[in-house]
Amino acid sequence: MELLTTIKSNAKKQDKCIVLPEGTEERTLKAADEIIKEGIARIILLGNPDEIHQQSSKYNLKHLTGATVIDPRDHEKKDFYGDMLYDLRKHKGLSRDEAQKLVEDPLYLATLLIKNGEADGEVAGAANATGNVLRPAFQVVKTLPGISVVSGAFIMILPDKQWGEDGILVFADCAVHPDPNAEELAQIAVMTAQTTRAIVDIEPRVAMLSFSTKGSAQHPLCEKVTKATELAREMMPDIQIDGELQADAAIVKAIGQSKAPGSSIAGEANVLVFPGLESGNIGYKLVQRLAGAQAVGPVLQGMAAPINDLSRGCSVDDIVNLVAITVNQAAGK
Ligand code: ACO
Repeated sequence: MELLTTIKSNAKKQDKCIVLPEGTEERTLKAADEIIKEGIARIILLGNPDEIHQQSSKYNLKHLTGATVIDPRDHEKKDFYGDMLYDLRKHKGLSRDEAQKLVEDPLYLATLLIKNGEADGEVAGAANATGNVLRPAFQVVKTLPGISVVSGAFIMILPDKQWGEDGILVFADCAVHPDPNAEELAQIAVMTAQTTRAIVDIEPRVAMLSFSTKGSAQHPLCEKVTKATELAREMMPDIQIDGELQADAAIVKAIGQSKAPGSSIAGEANVLVFPGLESGNIGYKLVQRLAGAQAVGPVLQGMAAPINDLSRGCSVDDIVNLVAITVNQAAGK
């Protein structure tokens, strides 16, 4: 079955609730209607109820009656969430008044609903920049135990099936952490291996990418990748991982065998971990455009509960797909 169909069908078997803080945004409302109709998730929409109802009638979105609507400016638990945010952030200098004001921001309220167990995950970003979606998530939901850095993976679905696992590769970090050190890069590798198992349902073969293969170049940037590979092995001993590897040695069998003889994954990698955000972000976009790959994500990993960020150019289908992925993440938590 096609990967996204499988992900949606797995989501339908769960009973998860996803909060959509951009509840008055047209594509978000159309996606919510589809999600409820298909039974992919229960939905909480944040926004002015009158505006949501008006839009719903305008676009004839009949299934939105099944969504829970919360007005961030006026709801019965507003003080409760203000106090909660104050308790979480007072050590950073947040005052009670500032906290009461911040919970009117749907992006903050969404993370507090998750923290309080009222929602299992969040999808936002159709109308907000990445930083605005991520900052409340980092501050309120925070990272998984043992993980200090959130990163973003893309599931790359290539038309040419010779690459990765029948044309599927997972790339990271392509979205979040600009300049990881070796420890952080190891965490990114481990989280990407787990995302690959949980969402793509394949056994990860992780290549830690560099401009050097097995000491062909000597540079602190290559040493960082080698160290990260060792640390990732310690963190997740059952992981198939190798590095440092150049991209061709990672994915082309003949080159892997000649540049990294004896490596268990060289030439056969299905997970590519980039040494920094510059190469990761540039790399996924080049593969998307030049190879005609479908890039699904970013799937954010390392957060204590799944929160995913859309591109502002997203389509209704992109939102539906990312909600289904978020449900799968919540189920595998
Ligand atoms: N993982 C976990 N926590 C983090 C991370 C991270 N990667 N980065 C920051 N934090 C935490 C900090 O520890 C801090 O927590 P605290 O307040 O409890 O101490 C909080 O988040 C705020 O930290 P800042 O350093 O102030 O972070 P800032 O808000 O400046 O930046 C951000 C965070 C927005 C994610 C920044 O790293 C960024 O802009 N990254 C690039 C995002 C981007 O533009 N990606 C490319 C586009 S996406 C695409 O193309 C698909």
